[in-house]
Amino acid sequence: MTYSIADAEQELRVKRDALNLRWYPHYHLAARAGWMNDPNGLVWFDGWYHAFYQHHPYSTQWGPMHWGHARSQDLVHWEHLPVAIAPEGPEDKDGCFSGSAVVDGDTLALIYTGHKFHGDAGNEDNLYQVQCLATSRDGIHFERQGIVVNTPPGVHHFRDPKVWREGDSWYMIVGARLGETGQVRLYRSADLRQWQDEGVLDEAEAGMGFMWECPDFFTLNGRRVLMFSPQGMNADGFKNRNLFQSGYLVGDWQPGQPFIRAGEFAEMDHGHDFYAPQSFATPDGRRIVIGWLDMWESPLPEQQDGWAGMLSLPRELSLSHDNRLQMRPAKEVESLRQAWFPWPVSTLKNQQISVAENAGAMEVVLNWNSADSTAEQYGISLGDGLRVYVDAQQQRLVLERYYPQHALCGTRSVPLSPDRDLSVRLFIDSSSVEVFVNNGEACLSSRIYPDAGNRELRLFAWSGSASLTDGGAWQLE
Ligand code: FRU
Repeated sequence: MTYSIADAEQELRVKRDALNLRWYPHYHLAARAGWMNDPNGLVWFDGWYHAFYQHHPYSTQWGPMHWGHARSQDLVHWEHLPVAIAPEGPEDKDGCFSGSAVVDGDTLALIYTGHKFHGDAGNEDNLYQVQCLATSRDGIHFERQGIVVNTPPGVHHFRDPKVWREGDSWYMIVGARLGETGQVRLYRSADLRQWQDEGVLDEAEAGMGFMWECPDFFTLNGRRVLMFSPQGMNADGFKNRNLFQSGYLVGDWQPGQPFIRAGEFAEMDHGHDFYAPQSFATPDGRRIVIGWLDMWESPLPEQQDGWAGMLSLPRELSLSHDNRLQMRPAKEVESLRQAWFPWPVSTLKNQQISVAENAGAMEVVLNWNSADSTAEQYGISLGDGLRVYVDAQQQRLVLERYYPQHALCGTRSVPLSPDRDLSVRLFIDSSSVEVFVNNGEACLSSRIYPDAGNRELRLFAWSGSASLTDGGAWQLE
């Protein structure tokens, strides 16, 4: 099959009308129809935020990747644009894989991975991944400029370029697999076309993965953050429970110098579904990150509805004094707020109470006084399928989902300190929940699949009492 943007658009027009929208997000970005994975090319250009994404317009399964495209003035109201790039050339004939965008004067430049097999696609020895360039003046139509970085000798998995400007140079990092070792490779250029190999920026030690996908590199608080999505880390207690991880290393770096780590790999989000995050800078200097709100090889029940996959809320990043990455919803998210419903509850004692009959798009705010709470479990539930609660015996905040009909059951959790009050902000959409704990300290994001009529919100406290100092919900647009 040959691919083109025109064919993809035609396909999407037809498919869009046939969607079942029961789980389609109200205020998150998802594809018009078909499959979506990683966010790509997040950038501010010519008065708009642009979000591109890995997209398969022809099916709800992953397939030959195109770049879907949407733009926004405020990071929450998105307007769909035509597919930006399709796997049309010899350099990307098997897919336009993930990559990034930069503004070069009056031009928007996309740098992405051309994915291609030379011969039989069943044999990884035939796989070649190359870095390609596409440019645009209007931010909508792109001209293909072909390969700018070829596959290094001895490497097959070599993808997801992230480009940034520093001093008089462009820099690019690319995720790679050398044997069983995940790597991030560094390149430098004066013009985005000729790239010089600057060696390996960092690589995995034993246990840190065989492939590092979607690397990103940025400065916060004067330190460098190397964010990436390693494949092949083993689960370890409460850590690394998902098939693949996404996380970061903090350290120091200057052009021409090695990257010196100042700590260990840490995960960014502790829910079931957060992967391949990418960051970008806003015009007012904030560092925002958006991730794919799904996980490879996890069931996606919306596939039966004609679409698959969604992106997370935009989250502002900061670095704490002890070098931990913190995420808070970008302030633009507040523009979605409509009516505020305060919940007149102060103490719950071995009971549950209903606070909303049908929670659609909502931001829930809960502040618990931990010292005054004796209950073994207290928190909030959505229908029969989701509970977000304090487990006092384990001293953890737990996100539990229970959708046996979709083979999605299980918990994720983060530690709590018993002597501190707990504040939780939950963002509920048709099929997702994002939980922000203690103003950026931790985050848990998971897909959820409530049936219609099974979206009642309840507060509960079992085996004791729980003291809620503040609670309520914003109806979101
Ligand atoms: C990460 C990833 C990338 C790749 C893309 C393919 O989720 O595997 O490494 O470029 O997805 O769609």
